[in-house]
Amino acid sequence: MAKWLKPGNFQFMHKVLLLPGDGIGPEVVAQAKKVLVHLKNEYGFELELEEALVGGSAYDQSKNPLPDETLRLAQSSDAIVLGAVGGPQYEAVERELRPEKGLLRLRAELDLFANLRPAILYKALASASSLKSELVAGLDIMIVRELTGGIYFGEPRGIRTLDHGIRQGFNTLVYDENEIARIAHIAFRTAQKRNNKLCSVDKANVLEVSELWREVVSTVHKEYSDVSLTHMYVDNAVMQLIKDPNQFDVMLTSNMFGDILSDVAAMLTGSIGMLPSASLNSEDHGMYEPIHGSAPDIAGKNLANPLATILSVAMMLRYSLNETHLADLVERAVQYVIDAGMRTADIVSTNQNSIGTKEMGDAVLIALSKRD
Ligand code: IPM
Ligand code: MG
Repeated sequence: MAKWLKPGNFQFMHKVLLLPGDGIGPEVVAQAKKVLVHLKNEYGFELELEEALVGGSAYDQSKNPLPDETLRLAQSSDAIVLGAVGGPQYEAVERELRPEKGLLRLRAELDLFANLRPAILYKALASASSLKSELVAGLDIMIVRELTGGIYFGEPRGIRTLDHGIRQGFNTLVYDENEIARIAHIAFRTAQKRNNKLCSVDKANVLEVSELWREVVSTVHKEYSDVSLTHMYVDNAVMQLIKDPNQFDVMLTSNMFGDILSDVAAMLTGSIGMLPSASLNSEDHGMYEPIHGSAPDIAGKNLANPLATILSVAMMLRYSLNETHLADLVERAVQYVIDAGMRTADIVSTNQNSIGTKEMGDAVLIALSKRD
């Protein structure tokens, strides 16, 4: 799965698959592609790029949100950059064929169980947060979300009609101890690379699944005695995130709680348009995507912020491709454009001018060239 050796050449070739998806996905991925091509041309970064359809755009073409060809390319790549999937035009489509299903199947087929979602506040953007700046100053949280289990994938599921003719929707929340242990290991190791502080979030006062979750996380903790572990109920965790977010460093949680907590944490930073994410399997094969969605209302208007996708490229360089130096360069270039006052519409403050998606991509390239 990892890197493959180019025949006759002893340098590593990285096979990267771009999945632009829907809505603003193609626009932001186009900027990420510019960055990757720049790294290839200017830094001798060995790169082979492929592109494929996923989500609504794939459904439009083949009535399948994850075509076989896309899955094949995904399985044979070293890493994937995904834009976003979904849009209102697909709401009436049968559930199994909706754009989101393409994304969920991709996560499941590649066993991308570990979802890392950093929520970092850029100093220059503190005023964009809906919380007082003193509360969010220095915010740097990493949410580790289990991504291939829990209620998202549990069976049985469906909508059935009961004897008396009433329809009932049902889903199943299941986690086995191996699934809990493997994501717990990722969370503890992530904590070790940061400040040795982990908070596991569950609903153990009500759910048996959470009771097991808590027990398994505590058992795994014995292998990481340098990390301090706390447990928190999810309702309290959401409240604490808004009350005093800096008390958290790494947060570990299940699939659905992580979906919710990561949006809350993202919003604390003021711009969901700035936040990348990584979804990894046990071999660090990964899919990298901005946390924001497909934003159909601004699609095609050159308004979207491409920085979350460009930062996702940096995460890919760091976690899957082992190109730490290039990851640092990309992150520094993003920091540079922010410090230089470049703003897309989502992060602009009242007295500033905003620039478009393409112009922001160009600004990152210029910042990268400055540092050549
Ligand atoms: C996310 C999204 C997805 C999820 C949707 C699009 C299926 O909200 O990545 O957070 O719920 O996991
Ligand atoms: Mg979500």
